[in-house]
Amino acid sequence: MGCIVIATANAHKVEEFRALMGKQDVDVKSLLDYPHMPPIEENGSSFRENASIKALAACNYCDVPAFADDSGLEVAALDGAPGIYSARYAPTAPERIAKLLKALEGKTDRRARFVCVIAIAVNGEVVDTFEGEVRGRIADAPRGEGGFGYDPVFIPDGYDCTFAELSAEEKNRISHRAVAFRKAMEFVEDQMSMLDNDFL
Ligand code: IMP
Repeated sequence: MGCIVIATANAHKVEEFRALMGKQDVDVKSLLDYPHMPPIEENGSSFRENASIKALAACNYCDVPAFADDSGLEVAALDGAPGIYSARYAPTAPERIAKLLKALEGKTDRRARFVCVIAIAVNGEVVDTFEGEVRGRIADAPRGEGGFGYDPVFIPDGYDCTFAELSAEEKNRISHRAVAFRKAMEFVEDQMSMLDNDFL
């Protein structure tokens, strides 16, 4: 069985990736399995750069193929903020949501999109990157208990409920991460058995 490391220590993301990986015959590890790995400095200026930095660092440290995602929320009325700073917009998820709703107070344009870029690194090189997005709008107040991060205030286009009100299965079907992930898996299946240990 092949092995791949998902370059994140975010348990929610690990669960989403594991669910997306489905029945693939691959041992999915994450940085939670490598607690001594030094923190990765995300100093890129785009989702793509940050995903590549993380994938490469994990691939080099763990010595197995690595997937990394960098993702965030872009809000039209805030000129794309918080964008690549989504995780650092405020210290905790409830504070990030409160700051976002305050910044949007009185604004009628509530359009937003979640973006995810997945980078794949094999043998010390980033082999490709894949982007997914889901468009939607920011709710007036948080709703729902599921998901993580900005999920309680993000209403995807075509829905009346927030990401946090959707089942995990439904979110995993339409999310930015799912779209990027499907593209990445197509590449993996098309190009090579890079998850197969024989390849390494
Ligand atoms: P990253 O771990 O550097 O990719 O940070 C992404 C940040 O964007 C997360 O900490 C969340 O705040 C936000 N984010 C990304 N994807 C999602 C999602 O699916 N739901 C809610 N928030 C998300």
